[in-house]
Amino acid sequence: MSKKCLFPAACYGTRFLPATKSMPKEMLPIVNKPLIQYGVEEAIEAGLTNMAIVTGRGKRAMEDHFDVSYELEHQIEGSDKEEYLKGIREIMNSCTFSYTRQIEMKGLGHAILTGEPLIGDEPFAVVLADDLCLAEEGDGVLAQMVRLYKQFRCSIVAIEEVPMDEVHKYGVIKGEMIRDDIYQISEMVEKPAAEDAPSNLAIIGRYILTPDIFDILRNTTPGVGGEIQITDALMQQAKEGCVLGYKFKGKRFDCGSIAGFIDATNYCYKMFY
Ligand code: G1P
Repeated sequence: MSKKCLFPAACYGTRFLPATKSMPKEMLPIVNKPLIQYGVEEAIEAGLTNMAIVTGRGKRAMEDHFDVSYELEHQIEGSDKEEYLKGIREIMNSCTFSYTRQIEMKGLGHAILTGEPLIGDEPFAVVLADDLCLAEEGDGVLAQMVRLYKQFRCSIVAIEEVPMDEVHKYGVIKGEMIRDDIYQISEMVEKPAAEDAPSNLAIIGRYILTPDIFDILRNTTPGVGGEIQITDALMQQAKEGCVLGYKFKGKRFDCGSIAGFIDATNYCYKMFY
């Protein structure tokens, strides 16, 4: 397993307009920390240190966030406000950040393929920052998945049971249960109608991918919404070999929706502040 974690972060975040008109949705804060920072902290906790971020136009704020801000830091030097920058400084000292831009928005699969030059030929993790995952006790979700990868050596998607009237928002899997929290996937559908969904086990935004996914993605034709879907590429991988669905331990908030964002804010405020 490499130390690389890919963050597809080029999408517009239209559900949060006008807030996201000139600000990346990944920079929306849950209390006082942007979503992307929660994702990076989860990756670090999983032992990953090379953050590979797929950005797009108008998203430079993310690069600035993980860089020094000389004027600001000079201004607050020696004051008790420096404490607020401690966490981000530790991140900057322990990780590298590399960026590439997705020129056209052609789907999550296309975004992941755009990240190939930053990843190379090794297994890697993927975090969708608007799915905020918090461990209630023990390891974070990505750390759990990295551990599982070391045992099974194949692509893994995080899954969660969702109500049937919400399956249309997700990739949905079906598979054989090989442990009480692991499924060997036999079917995967992107954003099915409730009546066509193979189950209520939804994929959430954490993946471990083996690098053969890039060749598969290159040959994946656009699916739902005319976009190149990672779900379709993973289904191909499942047919040719093995893909696991892992029912993670922890809490997950859909911060791409207003309701999930508010829930996450209330939860984090109570837990951490
Ligand atoms: C993407 C994936 C979907 C997955 C979801 C998790 O969809 O395509 O399979 O269930 O992330 O958040 P999006 O939310 O980008 O539409």
